[in-house]
Amino acid sequence: MKTHSIITIKTLEDLHAFAARLKQYLALPAILALTGDLGSGKTAFTQQLAEAYGINELLPSPTFTLSNVYKQHDLLFVHADLYRLMDTDEITLLGLSDYFAEPNTVTVVEWADRLTALFPPQTIWLHLTLLEDNSRLLTVKSANKEFWWRFESKSGELSR
Ligand SMILES: Nc1ncnc2c1ncn2[C@@H]1O[C@H](COP(=O)(O)OP(=O)(O)OP(=O)(O)O)[C@@H](O)[C@H]1O
Ligand SMILES: [Mg+2]
Repeated sequence: MKTHSIITIKTLEDLHAFAARLKQYLALPAILALTGDLGSGKTAFTQQLAEAYGINELLPSPTFTLSNVYKQHDLLFVHADLYRLMDTDEITLLGLSDYFAEPNTVTVVEWADRLTALFPPQTIWLHLTLLEDNSRLLTVKSANKEFWWRFESKSGELSR
């Protein structure tokens, strides 16, 4: 079984196209865990994915509130950022994992590596690396068989 895929994102337009394609491979509820250096594009990706779901106005990254929840018709789009997470007790307050099994919910978590143990095996991990020429290398990793099955059956490409 495929477990990872690496793609190059050169511009915000590429990121837009990537997010739109990725959406096609997601089954809800979906959990996306984002990792990568400061400024590598985690929030930019979240914005593009939200847009793919019809949410056009994403609030600034929820670094201080830890999570923002958007409702778009039947869909719940949860944007969390664990950058400030210092104490694992905080996660209880956040109640983030409650969203993981909610029907019709997409949960996107920036700085997910701050609490790796929170994420179930079906999580789709996206790691962003900022390269010198300002392009991004995006690694998709997951043990979610259904995700890869959809990925392979629908052309097997995440960007073009
Ligand atoms: N693929 C891209 N092409 C061009 N610019 C990008 C791309 N991705 C992100 N950027 C720009 O890089 C800057 C930082 O991006 P962003 O805030 O999304 O990073 P981040 O990973 O969320 O950072 P943080 O770690 O602070 O949360 C923004 O100005 C954003 O518009
Ligand atoms: Mg961010």
